Amino acid sequence: RAAMPAAPDLPETLEQAEAAAAQCRRCNLCEAATQTVWGRGAPDAALMIVGEQPGDHEDLAGVPFVGPAGQVLHRAMAEARLATDQVWLTNAVKHFKFAPRGKQRMHKSPDGPEIAQCRWWLGLELAFIKPRLTVALGATAAAALTGDTSPLAARRGAIETGLHGGPVLIAWHPSYILRLPHVADKDRVYSELLHDLQHAHQLIQ
Ligand code: URA
Repeated sequence: RAAMPAAPDLPETLEQAEAAAAQCRRCNLCEAATQTVWGRGAPDAALMIVGEQPGDHEDLAGVPFVGPAGQVLHRAMAEARLATDQVWLTNAVKHFKFAPRGKQRMHKSPDGPEIAQCRWWLGLELAFIKPRLTVALGATAAAALTGDTSPLAARRGAIETGLHGGPVLIAWHPSYILRLPHVADKDRVYSELLHDLQHAHQLIQ
């Protein structure tokens, strides 16, 4: 009788989860991306901030939020007095998804099945870090954390219940600010992101 295929080992620590994620083949994104970009920060963080997926810079560096969107996020975190040792920064999807265009790699949003496959890793981060609060940056993170794929405009600033049972504060994604053409809109959306991070700061004190 053929042996049952081995079940994937359930990681017992955050470090084991990171090592397993580095070998992930749960979807096809690993084939074109440089590497898995795991979360960074304090393993005992009270606050977890979840983005969409690594971008071009993050894919090369192996670190989340080091590119242009990351600069906006880090500025807002500093203004909200969120210290790096209070926070675990990660993404809903841990490989960069892109379309080649000449020498450029153009960002493509992850689809539902990719988000669903990568939720395994996000669930392990939530289980080991046990944040008191999670901030979802943008629609992909909000969908991955809550299961609700409805548009962000009506949800931003609200606290929803995550699939893991904990509170999820819905916020704009910093790259949305970068894409807005008008300075007045950029300023308004940035101040809403800052407001939400200040709210997060209050909630974890
Ligand atoms: N955008 C994200 O959502 N995550 C990153 O790590 C970088 C840019």
